[in-house]
Amino acid sequence: MEVIIQPDEKAAAEWAAQQIASAIEAKPNLVLGLATGNTPRKLYRRLVDMHRNQGLDFSAVTTFNLDEYLGLGPDHPGSYRYFMRENLFDHININPKLCYIPNGLTDDVLQECETFESRIEGSGGIDIQILGIGPNGHIGFNEPGSSLGSRTRFKALTEDTRLANAEMFGGQENVPRFVITVGVGTIQEARRIILLAFGEQKAEIVRQAVEGPITCEVTASALQWHRSTVFLLDEAAASKLKRRDYYKYAYEHKWKYLQK
Ligand code: F6R
Repeated sequence: MEVIIQPDEKAAAEWAAQQIASAIEAKPNLVLGLATGNTPRKLYRRLVDMHRNQGLDFSAVTTFNLDEYLGLGPDHPGSYRYFMRENLFDHININPKLCYIPNGLTDDVLQECETFESRIEGSGGIDIQILGIGPNGHIGFNEPGSSLGSRTRFKALTEDTRLANAEMFGGQENVPRFVITVGVGTIQEARRIILLAFGEQKAEIVRQAVEGPITCEVTASALQWHRSTVFLLDEAAASKLKRRDYYKYAYEHKWKYLQK
Protein backbone atom coordinates (compact mmCIF):
# COMPACT_ATOMS: atom_id res chain seq x y z
CA MET A 1 0.00 0.00 0.00
CA GLU A 2 1.33 3.38 -0.99
CA VAL A 3 -0.04 6.77 0.04
CA ILE A 4 0.51 9.50 -2.56
CA ILE A 5 -0.41 13.03 -1.54
CA GLN A 6 -0.89 15.56 -4.33
CA PRO A 7 -1.35 19.31 -3.81
CA ASP A 8 -4.95 19.22 -5.06
CA GLU A 9 -7.63 17.22 -6.82
CA LYS A 10 -6.53 18.38 -10.28
CA ALA A 11 -2.97 17.13 -9.76
CA ALA A 12 -4.26 13.83 -8.39
CA ALA A 13 -6.61 13.37 -11.36
CA GLU A 14 -3.67 14.06 -13.67
CA TRP A 15 -1.55 11.46 -11.88
CA ALA A 16 -4.26 8.80 -12.15
CA ALA A 17 -5.01 9.66 -15.80
CA GLN A 18 -1.31 9.29 -16.66
CA GLN A 19 -1.25 5.85 -15.02
CA ILE A 20 -4.27 4.73 -17.04
CA ALA A 21 -2.92 6.20 -20.28
CA SER A 22 0.45 4.45 -19.87
CA ALA A 23 -1.31 1.20 -19.03
CA ILE A 24 -3.48 1.44 -22.18
CA GLU A 25 -0.42 2.20 -24.28
CA ALA A 26 1.31 -0.89 -22.86
CA LYS A 27 -1.81 -3.07 -23.12
CA PRO A 28 -4.47 -1.72 -25.53
CA ASN A 29 -7.05 -4.26 -24.30
CA LEU A 30 -6.70 -3.12 -20.70
CA VAL A 31 -9.46 -4.11 -18.26
CA LEU A 32 -10.48 -1.16 -16.08
CA GLY A 33 -12.63 -1.23 -12.97
CA LEU A 34 -14.52 2.06 -12.64
CA ALA A 35 -16.29 3.99 -9.90
CA THR A 36 -18.96 6.68 -10.10
CA GLY A 37 -19.70 9.57 -7.70
CA ASN A 38 -18.08 13.00 -7.43
CA THR A 39 -14.55 11.81 -6.82
CA PRO A 40 -13.56 10.46 -10.25
CA ARG A 41 -15.21 13.23 -12.33
CA LYS A 42 -11.97 15.16 -12.96
CA LEU A 43 -10.13 11.97 -13.79
CA TYR A 44 -12.75 11.07 -16.41
CA ARG A 45 -12.62 14.61 -17.81
CA ARG A 46 -8.86 14.28 -18.17
CA LEU A 47 -9.17 10.91 -19.93
CA VAL A 48 -11.64 12.51 -22.36
CA ASP A 49 -9.06 15.29 -23.02
CA MET A 50 -6.35 12.72 -23.59
CA HIS A 51 -8.56 10.91 -26.07
CA ARG A 52 -9.41 14.13 -27.94
CA ASN A 53 -6.02 15.80 -27.90
CA GLN A 54 -3.51 12.98 -27.67
CA GLY A 55 -5.40 10.19 -29.40
CA LEU A 56 -5.64 7.95 -26.33
CA ASP A 57 -7.33 4.90 -27.83
CA PHE A 58 -10.03 3.12 -25.83
CA SER A 59 -11.28 0.94 -28.68
CA ALA A 60 -10.06 -2.33 -27.17
CA VAL A 61 -10.52 -1.40 -23.49
CA THR A 62 -13.05 -3.29 -21.33
CA THR A 63 -14.62 -1.67 -18.26
CA PHE A 64 -16.48 -3.02 -15.26
CA ASN A 65 -18.33 -0.61 -12.99
CA LEU A 66 -18.54 -1.32 -9.31
CA ASP A 67 -22.22 -0.94 -8.71
CA GLU A 68 -25.73 0.01 -9.79
CA TYR A 69 -28.99 0.93 -8.07
CA LEU A 70 -31.71 -1.69 -8.31
CA GLY A 71 -34.83 -0.40 -9.99
CA LEU A 72 -33.09 2.23 -12.13
CA GLY A 73 -32.76 1.78 -15.88
CA PRO A 74 -29.95 3.19 -18.04
CA ASP A 75 -31.96 6.31 -18.92
CA HIS A 76 -32.61 7.32 -15.31
CA PRO A 77 -30.30 10.29 -14.56
CA GLY A 78 -29.47 8.78 -11.14
CA SER A 79 -28.35 5.47 -12.62
CA TYR A 80 -24.67 4.74 -12.85
CA ARG A 81 -24.98 3.68 -16.49
CA TYR A 82 -26.27 7.20 -17.19
CA PHE A 83 -23.43 8.73 -15.14
CA MET A 84 -20.81 6.77 -17.04
CA ARG A 85 -22.23 7.73 -20.42
CA GLU A 86 -22.38 11.41 -19.43
CA ASN A 87 -18.96 11.56 -17.84
CA LEU A 88 -16.88 9.21 -19.96
CA PHE A 89 -18.29 6.67 -22.38
CA ASP A 90 -20.08 9.07 -24.75
CA HIS A 91 -16.92 11.14 -25.19
CA ILE A 92 -14.33 8.47 -25.99
CA ASN A 93 -14.03 5.73 -28.61
CA ILE A 94 -14.88 2.89 -26.26
CA ASN A 95 -16.92 -0.08 -27.51
CA PRO A 96 -20.22 0.10 -25.53
CA LYS A 97 -20.43 -3.70 -25.71
CA LEU A 98 -17.29 -3.88 -23.57
CA CYS A 99 -18.64 -1.54 -20.85
CA TYR A 100 -20.18 -3.72 -18.14
CA ILE A 101 -22.36 -2.29 -15.38
CA PRO A 102 -24.73 -4.45 -13.32
CA ASN A 103 -28.26 -4.28 -14.75
CA GLY A 104 -30.41 -2.38 -12.26
CA LEU A 105 -33.58 -3.65 -13.93
CA THR A 106 -32.75 -7.33 -13.74
CA ASP A 107 -35.52 -9.65 -12.59
CA ASP A 108 -32.94 -12.21 -11.45
CA VAL A 109 -30.45 -10.52 -9.13
CA LEU A 110 -28.56 -13.70 -8.23
CA GLN A 111 -28.04 -14.59 -11.87
CA GLU A 112 -27.00 -11.01 -12.72
CA CYS A 113 -24.36 -11.10 -9.97
CA GLU A 114 -23.04 -14.47 -11.05
CA THR A 115 -22.87 -13.39 -14.68
CA PHE A 116 -21.04 -10.20 -13.70
CA GLU A 117 -18.42 -12.15 -11.75
CA SER A 118 -17.90 -14.60 -14.58
CA ARG A 119 -17.53 -11.76 -17.10
CA ILE A 120 -14.76 -10.24 -14.97
CA GLU A 121 -13.06 -13.61 -14.83
CA GLY A 122 -13.60 -14.18 -18.57
CA SER A 123 -11.97 -10.84 -19.35
CA GLY A 124 -8.79 -12.01 -17.64
CA GLY A 125 -9.41 -9.94 -14.50
CA ILE A 126 -9.22 -6.25 -13.72
CA ASP A 127 -5.87 -4.60 -14.45
CA ILE A 128 -6.54 -1.25 -12.73
CA GLN A 129 -9.43 -0.65 -10.35
CA ILE A 130 -10.43 2.96 -9.64
CA LEU A 131 -12.18 3.49 -6.31
CA GLY A 132 -13.69 6.28 -4.25
CA ILE A 133 -14.43 5.96 -0.55
CA GLY A 134 -17.78 6.59 1.10
CA PRO A 135 -18.13 8.62 4.30
CA ASN A 136 -18.60 5.33 6.18
CA GLY A 137 -15.52 3.77 4.57
CA HIS A 138 -17.30 1.77 1.90
CA ILE A 139 -15.69 0.82 -1.40
CA GLY A 140 -18.20 -0.02 -4.10
CA PHE A 141 -21.35 -0.27 -2.02
CA ASN A 142 -19.73 -2.60 0.50
CA GLU A 143 -21.30 -1.03 3.54
CA PRO A 144 -19.93 -1.51 7.08
CA GLY A 145 -20.32 -5.12 8.11
CA SER A 146 -19.72 -6.47 4.59
CA SER A 147 -17.59 -9.58 4.41
CA LEU A 148 -14.07 -8.76 3.34
CA GLY A 149 -14.21 -11.82 1.09
CA SER A 150 -17.57 -10.87 -0.50
CA ARG A 151 -18.35 -11.23 -4.21
CA THR A 152 -20.77 -9.36 -6.47
CA ARG A 153 -24.13 -9.39 -4.74
CA PHE A 154 -27.32 -7.70 -3.62
CA LYS A 155 -26.81 -5.13 -0.87
CA ALA A 156 -29.03 -2.76 1.13
CA LEU A 157 -27.70 0.79 1.50
CA THR A 158 -27.21 2.37 4.91
CA GLU A 159 -28.90 5.67 5.65
CA ASP A 160 -25.43 7.39 5.70
CA THR A 161 -24.95 6.40 2.11
CA ARG A 162 -28.47 7.38 1.08
CA LEU A 163 -27.87 10.78 2.68
CA ALA A 164 -24.51 11.18 0.90
CA ASN A 165 -26.23 10.51 -2.45
CA ALA A 166 -29.39 12.54 -1.75
CA GLU A 167 -28.53 15.51 -3.95
CA MET A 168 -28.67 13.52 -7.16
CA PHE A 169 -32.17 12.30 -6.28
CA GLY A 170 -33.61 15.51 -4.83
CA GLY A 171 -33.73 14.13 -1.27
CA GLN A 172 -32.66 11.13 0.79
CA GLU A 173 -36.17 9.63 0.63
CA ASN A 174 -35.82 9.23 -3.15
CA VAL A 175 -32.49 7.40 -3.09
CA PRO A 176 -32.98 3.72 -3.93
CA ARG A 177 -32.49 1.38 -0.99
CA PHE A 178 -31.00 -1.59 -2.79
CA VAL A 179 -28.08 -2.11 -5.12
CA ILE A 180 -25.89 -4.65 -6.83
CA THR A 181 -22.25 -4.15 -5.90
CA VAL A 182 -19.07 -6.04 -6.61
CA GLY A 183 -17.65 -7.49 -3.41
CA VAL A 184 -14.59 -6.59 -1.37
CA GLY A 185 -13.11 -9.95 -2.40
CA THR A 186 -13.77 -9.16 -6.07
CA ILE A 187 -12.05 -5.76 -5.71
CA GLN A 188 -9.09 -7.38 -3.98
CA GLU A 189 -8.42 -9.48 -7.09
CA ALA A 190 -7.66 -6.42 -9.23
CA ARG A 191 -3.97 -6.31 -10.14
CA ARG A 192 -3.64 -2.63 -9.20
CA ILE A 193 -5.99 -0.40 -7.25
CA ILE A 194 -6.06 3.40 -7.13
CA LEU A 195 -8.36 4.78 -4.45
CA LEU A 196 -9.02 8.50 -4.82
CA ALA A 197 -10.16 10.70 -1.93
CA PHE A 198 -10.43 14.46 -1.83
CA GLY A 199 -11.45 17.10 0.68
CA GLU A 200 -11.48 17.52 4.41
CA GLN A 201 -14.74 15.62 4.77
CA LYS A 202 -12.88 12.44 3.75
CA ALA A 203 -9.90 12.97 6.09
CA GLU A 204 -11.17 11.00 9.09
CA ILE A 205 -12.36 7.98 7.11
CA VAL A 206 -9.13 7.95 5.09
CA ARG A 207 -7.20 7.90 8.37
CA GLN A 208 -9.23 4.92 9.56
CA ALA A 209 -8.83 3.07 6.24
CA VAL A 210 -5.07 3.66 5.96
CA GLU A 211 -3.87 3.70 9.56
CA GLY A 212 -6.64 1.94 11.45
CA PRO A 213 -7.22 -1.79 11.88
CA ILE A 214 -8.42 -3.97 9.01
CA THR A 215 -12.09 -4.33 9.77
CA CYS A 216 -15.41 -4.91 8.05
CA GLU A 217 -16.57 -1.72 9.81
CA VAL A 218 -14.47 0.21 7.26
CA THR A 219 -14.37 -1.95 4.16
CA ALA A 220 -11.67 0.21 2.51
CA SER A 221 -9.30 -0.94 5.27
CA ALA A 222 -9.20 -4.34 3.50
CA LEU A 223 -6.95 -2.67 0.91
CA GLN A 224 -4.14 -2.74 3.47
CA TRP A 225 -3.95 -6.40 2.53
CA HIS A 226 -3.77 -5.77 -1.23
CA ARG A 227 -0.40 -6.14 -2.95
CA SER A 228 -0.60 -2.99 -5.12
CA THR A 229 -2.90 -0.26 -3.85
CA VAL A 230 -2.34 3.48 -4.01
CA PHE A 231 -4.35 5.82 -1.81
CA LEU A 232 -4.23 8.95 -3.96
CA LEU A 233 -5.15 11.95 -1.83
CA ASP A 234 -5.20 15.72 -1.88
CA GLU A 235 -3.71 17.60 1.08
CA ALA A 236 -7.09 17.98 2.79
CA ALA A 237 -7.98 14.28 2.63
CA ALA A 238 -4.50 13.43 3.95
CA SER A 239 -4.65 15.95 6.78
CA LYS A 240 -5.41 13.44 9.57
CA LEU A 241 -2.78 10.85 8.66
CA LYS A 242 -0.20 10.57 11.40
CA ARG A 243 2.49 9.42 8.94
CA ARG A 244 1.67 12.12 6.39
CA ASP A 245 5.21 13.53 6.26
CA TYR A 246 6.68 10.06 5.95
CA TYR A 247 4.45 9.20 2.95
CA LYS A 248 5.45 12.44 1.23
CA TYR A 249 9.12 11.93 1.91
CA ALA A 250 9.03 8.36 0.61
CA TYR A 251 7.20 9.37 -2.58
CA GLU A 252 9.42 12.39 -3.23
CA HIS A 253 12.60 10.38 -2.95
CA LYS A 254 11.71 7.07 -4.51
CA TRP A 255 12.51 8.26 -8.05
CA LYS A 256 16.18 7.94 -7.11
CA TYR A 257 15.69 4.18 -6.96
CA LEU A 258 12.49 3.46 -8.92
CA GLN A 259 10.46 4.89 -11.81
CA LYS A 260 7.59 7.09 -10.59
C1 F6R B 1 -19.51 4.57 -6.65
C2 F6R B 1 -19.02 3.85 -5.49
C3 F6R B 1 -18.89 4.49 -4.15
C4 F6R B 1 -18.28 5.89 -4.20
C5 F6R B 1 -18.25 6.50 -2.80
C6 F6R B 1 -17.71 7.91 -2.80
O1 F6R B 1 -19.49 3.76 -7.80
O2 F6R B 1 -18.73 2.71 -5.62
O3 F6R B 1 -18.10 3.67 -3.33
O4 F6R B 1 -16.99 5.83 -4.73
O5 F6R B 1 -19.52 6.50 -2.25
O6 F6R B 1 -18.61 8.76 -3.46
P1 F6R B 1 -18.18 10.25 -3.82
O7 F6R B 1 -17.09 10.15 -4.79
O8 F6R B 1 -19.43 10.83 -4.45
O9 F6R B 1 -17.79 10.90 -2.55
